[in-house]
Amino acid sequence: MKRRLLAALGGAVLAFSLAACGGEGAGGDTDTSGQAPQDLTIGVSMPTQTSERWIADGNSVKEKLEAKGYKVDLQYAGDDIPTQSQQVDQMITRGADVLIIAAIDGTALSSQLQAAADKKIPVIAYDRLIRDSQNVDFYVSFDNFKVGVAQANALLVGLGLQNKDGSKGSKTGPFNIEVFAGSLDDNNAHFFFDGAMQTLKPFLDNGSLVVKSKQTAIEQVAILRWQQETAQKRMEDLLTSTYNDGSKVNGVLSPYDGLSRGIITALQNAGYGPAANPIPVVTGQDAEIASVKLINDGVQGSTIFKDTRLLAEQAVIAAEAFLQEKQPQANDTTTYDNGVKVVPSYLLPVQTVFKDDIKTALIDSGYYTAEEVAAGQAK
Ligand code: BGC
Repeated sequence: MKRRLLAALGGAVLAFSLAACGGEGAGGDTDTSGQAPQDLTIGVSMPTQTSERWIADGNSVKEKLEAKGYKVDLQYAGDDIPTQSQQVDQMITRGADVLIIAAIDGTALSSQLQAAADKKIPVIAYDRLIRDSQNVDFYVSFDNFKVGVAQANALLVGLGLQNKDGSKGSKTGPFNIEVFAGSLDDNNAHFFFDGAMQTLKPFLDNGSLVVKSKQTAIEQVAILRWQQETAQKRMEDLLTSTYNDGSKVNGVLSPYDGLSRGIITALQNAGYGPAANPIPVVTGQDAEIASVKLINDGVQGSTIFKDTRLLAEQAVIAAEAFLQEKQPQANDTTTYDNGVKVVPSYLLPVQTVFKDDIKTALIDSGYYTAEEVAAGQAK
């Protein structure tokens, strides 16, 4: 990035500065504002390829940047923190001009971010806030608290305690539910859980909802690295420990489609599914194609659609602003305190998808085709 002072001091000093960068490419201290896109590289660090959404995010960001002529260094870290640290280190060494990072562990990249800051490489936190570091310049995400609120509302609607318009539903309960949260090292997991639990609280307080296991603290219900198998195991354990007296689970708050599928597998293996023993109302997030099919088939209750194409677009807009020496435009400058500073953010809205919404939200918008939904597989 441009150092305004150096530019002002003139060519000789700038030449010295560039020489000092020693073959490290165009990244860091160089002036990017006047450079052609093909001379600029954006490092894109994604957490894992085990979840469809991150593949879609990575592909979207790459395509959009390449369409504008930029070079893209896209890496997936296999949900392994040391791998992500190493990949980000390499991006810096190879001369990235901007970094876009979706962190596995929001607190684990401090030394990489310091290295980026030392070279004046702007860092955009992608979807997951990077915590405990001064060196995060911008955050693009969805309204994560509202995701949790929407998940809780979808659970209430599915159980009949509430109507879609928020009015009182025809059922009164009491219903047995269990709650799950995401990975504790992901800042979003806390926002989702807080939004959901605040929404469910009045129903828990008046007894129309009962968490029969009594496990309601995020530490008790979190699923490390958002692993489907871990969620399946926890649901199996809950069925054995809490529902072996003939009582039934009526609903499950699940924060992510992958977890939802693990939970549904555990429930089906325990005999839930037939009309006489209906599958509980299970929520989700990300509109993963396998879950959209389950929703279409009446197995999963709902998901929260977050259009990764729009998120990718915002990340590209922010990256371009930095490359042009401008500050990207934020629409939230108060919510996302990363422990050191409030990171200026651009937050996108989210949409609840029940079976009836699949066509309008996902097919008509071109996110999936009707064939993909029917097959439960994206091409
Ligand atoms: C994302 C969710 C996703 C979860 C698991 C979170 O940080 O915001 O969309 O479901 O990670 O990958």
